[in-house]
Amino acid sequence: MTAELLDKWNQRHREAADQGQVAQVLLDNSHLLPVRGKALDLACGRGASALYLAARGLEVSSWDFSPVAIDRLLSEARRRSLTVSTEVRDLITGPMPGESFDVILVSYFLERSLAARIVEALKPGGLLYYQTFSLLAVHPGGPQNPAYRLADNELLELFKPLRVRSYREESDLGDTRLGVRDIAMLVAQKPG
Ligand SMILES: C[S@@+](CC[C@H](N)C(=O)[O-])C[C@H]1O[C@@H](n2cnc3c(N)ncnc32)[C@H](O)[C@@H]1O
Repeated sequence: MTAELLDKWNQRHREAADQGQVAQVLLDNSHLLPVRGKALDLACGRGASALYLAARGLEVSSWDFSPVAIDRLLSEARRRSLTVSTEVRDLITGPMPGESFDVILVSYFLERSLAARIVEALKPGGLLYYQTFSLLAVHPGGPQNPAYRLADNELLELFKPLRVRSYREESDLGDTRLGVRDIAMLVAQKPG
């Protein structure tokens, strides 16, 4: 992690008006969530999704390398009387415990080298919710660097050891004014 990258994210989190958006993949597939258990929001940002998971009754851990994001998440959690456990940590270099989480969410963060560790961190039967930008997009927005965008069907490849429970990637098919465009969304379960 470079100091410039962290500065950039701290500044974005400082200037943002609110907590951000709850991940679409969570909202669209909320009926698949367990009623209790441990959830991890990786690269949680200011924590809209972490707060959503906590409000659903899950025991939530939220990790991000930006202390500004984590501070904002914690103060909003206090305001809503929700409990979220947080850590300021660099996901790329930090350790990830094995078989610890019933749910892991990754929203708009793509670090391919983490895929095996994410799978390992799920408990058997646990669910991964993942969404991020695809290379083929019909609207502007998202990362300019193509390395931070998914190739066609790439989430399916990255998380091959998991069983797919829901997958949505609409590419540029049909009426592009409709549907969920520009991102791919996966819900997948660890066998066992
Ligand atoms: C596009 S934001 C997504 C935030 C949140 N998941 C959401 O969907 O609103 C990407 C997040 O990744 C965090 N981040 C970037 N690199 C990181 C790293 N190496 N370790 C931990 N967090 C990182 C940033 O601080 C930022 O909060």
